[in-house]
Amino acid sequence: MSVKILMVCLGNICRSPLAEGIMRSKLTKDFVVDSAGTGSWHAGELPDKRSISTAKNRGLDITNQRARQFKKSDFDIFDHIFVMDNSNYKDVLALAPNEEAKSKVKLILNELFPGENVDVPDPYYGGQDGFENVFDMLDQACEEIARKLKL
Ligand code: 4NP
Repeated sequence: MSVKILMVCLGNICRSPLAEGIMRSKLTKDFVVDSAGTGSWHAGELPDKRSISTAKNRGLDITNQRARQFKKSDFDIFDHIFVMDNSNYKDVLALAPNEEAKSKVKLILNELFPGENVDVPDPYYGGQDGFENVFDMLDQACEEIARKLKL
């Protein structure tokens, strides 16, 4: 059975679509990669234009993605749930039905800085630079996740 990975942020239009695209590009088809937002405001929308252009500049097309809200049943489907910041962590954990579900949820930058609980900054209200910075962080974190999963 394939390993299933879910990337989660607030809106599912800026950070987690980048994380989904980057993660998928580093894994084979044996893995399932998806993303979701804790909020529902942007459900059905394409990723933010700045995420699309940042990904395109790095050779990734993320225009197949559409935003959706994280739901409780995601705990049944996914093996690993990587959240972008401490606020997402709190919101996702609040929906976890049991300890096993809670243990699936991890802050993505703890893959690079174990135990430091560093946030991927929300680039929504900033400029293109913020998106490039987020891409670089997520690229390194996903590289580490891929390395561990392929061991
Ligand atoms: P994301 O960024 O969580 O990385 O997708 C945001 C997108 C939209 C909003 C906030 C953050 N918003 O408030 O609409």
